[in-house]
Amino acid sequence: MKILVCTDGSDHSTRAVRWAAQFAKNYSSELMILNVVKNIVKTDGEIAWFKEEDEEGNRILSEAKLLVEKEFQGVKVTLRLAGGDADKVTVELAENEKLDLIVMGSRGLGQFKRLLLGSISQKVSTHAPCPVTIVR
Ligand SMILES: Nc1ncnc2c1ncn2[C@@H]1O[C@H](COP(=O)(O)OP(=O)(O)OP(=O)(O)O)[C@@H](O)[C@H]1O
Ligand SMILES: [Mg+2]
Repeated sequence: MKILVCTDGSDHSTRAVRWAAQFAKNYSSELMILNVVKNIVKTDGEIAWFKEEDEEGNRILSEAKLLVEKEFQGVKVTLRLAGGDADKVTVELAENEKLDLIVMGSRGLGQFKRLLLGSISQKVSTHAPCPVTIVR
């Protein structure tokens, strides 16, 4: 099985990484870890496209990879850094890679704590072509 876990580096998404790694281990599956960096539209209208060497994104990914390697030995991990809207990128990836499962946190780095479910989790679970697990 091909499993994807999405992380924005938040505590919720770290819980999602642990859950996904345990699942991958139990089902002898590959685990792909994704972070999506926003393409920023500057005041002059120019778009600052994300870069492969994006520092924050790569830090989030390598921290997640370290955690999996340390706590869930034997799970094969691949990292994916992408640019755009996190929900669209995730759904497209699931379609293109024929993923079997997407794992995400219920919340992320957003400030609106009154919401039970973050907007990215909400949109991905609505549009994904495969099962989605929301970790609380
Ligand atoms: N940029 C991102 N890259 C990868 N995964 C992400 C990204 N943003 C969110 N996620 C995933 O979605 C989950 C829920 O985050 P979400 O962004 O929906 O909630 P939030 O930040 O609390 O609220 P909102 O962004 O709507 O203000 C995270 O735990 C993570 O799994
Ligand atoms: Mg968010």
